[in-house]
Amino acid sequence: MNHKFANRTNWNLEVNRLSEALARHRAAGLPLFDLSISNPTDCGFTYESREILAALCNPSALTYEPNPKGLEGARRAVAAYYRERSIAVSVEDIVLTASTSEAYTFAFRILCNPSDELLIPVPSYPLFSFLAEIQDVKLVRYPLIYDHGWQIDFQALEQAITPRTRGVVVVQPNNPTGHFTRPDEAARLNEICSSRQIAIIADEVFLDFALAEKLPTSFAAKAAALTFTLSGLSKISGLPQMKSAWLVTSGPEQRKAQALARLEVIADTYLSVNAPVQLATPVFLEQRRGFQKQLMARVRRNLEQLDRELSAQHSCARLEVEGGWYAVLRVPATRSDEELAIELLEKKNVYVHPGHFYDFPSEGHLIVSLITPEQTFAEGIRLLLSIFEI
Ligand SMILES: Cc1ncc(COP(=O)(O)O)c(C=O)c1O
Repeated sequence: MNHKFANRTNWNLEVNRLSEALARHRAAGLPLFDLSISNPTDCGFTYESREILAALCNPSALTYEPNPKGLEGARRAVAAYYRERSIAVSVEDIVLTASTSEAYTFAFRILCNPSDELLIPVPSYPLFSFLAEIQDVKLVRYPLIYDHGWQIDFQALEQAITPRTRGVVVVQPNNPTGHFTRPDEAARLNEICSSRQIAIIADEVFLDFALAEKLPTSFAAKAAALTFTLSGLSKISGLPQMKSAWLVTSGPEQRKAQALARLEVIADTYLSVNAPVQLATPVFLEQRRGFQKQLMARVRRNLEQLDRELSAQHSCARLEVEGGWYAVLRVPATRSDEELAIELLEKKNVYVHPGHFYDFPSEGHLIVSLITPEQTFAEGIRLLLSIFEI
């Protein structure tokens, strides 16, 4: 007889056809051009290993100093990160977490009763449904529209708001569309949210990876709506294994203070960020400079290569990219994206994510990772495009 588990855990855990095909492909030892790669530690970037490891050996880690918001030294380093963007964030408004996913959990927990609603963009990152289900939150989707660049469909967003809406999630730049929220969109969002007492949850893990010279503004700058800005070292410094992230609370003073008092209780309950990592966070943050330089150089070279290959054919195109680690290809929708991805794997040894992983509303989209090592990327793209040759 089956054990009784909570309904929220009744997930369909069957492996999808593409993952099955990938496992078969790997088990057979066949060549693989993996254009889905997102683990920065697996992409051939050079890390300053000695500095990173030395930072984990701080003797202060032998003392336990429980602080719900996190050790002040680490929070000061996070505040300095925003100061470089000319944004004043007080260390008191920062809460350290073990990951951005955990930061989402904290924000969802202080905002939502069971079945309360959060608006999330589509297309976007697939982890949201799990994060929401685990917290008993209902996700309602608002569309992003593509017309020579992405934008929020504000009419649809406003229609999606109900009395149970507690927050609007914005990811900038978004994964995988790679677009930033424009300042006029951020202002409108603030207006909509502040007048209805809805919070903004801004995921900025890719904020530093902008292709344009001008620094994009962060939601951490004080604005009208209560705002939780999430980021962390997994993308910023390419150190996902260190589990160091944060949540900045901003907005009108009174609402901000109320939110922080509640967040502090949740953070105090778990105290989940370990001391060695907190003590090393200033050093890890500093590591971002060398890492980001390498990563952006690769993204630019891969984009150039992609454009060269695309210009030599007529079947596929790429959507505009403003930043982040991914590009979206528009491909002929002659079969489902999943079937196409399986065919690419079986016939061309190329692995890509189909658009439906990210809830693209129509077929005909593939996502490629721009942080793929250059040679693999160039060969993988050439093979990918060759499947459309007649
Ligand atoms: C948009 C976005 N937010 C958050 C995360 C998770 O970050 P963390 O490793 O800090 O939980 C990811 C990871 O891929 C992501 O793409």
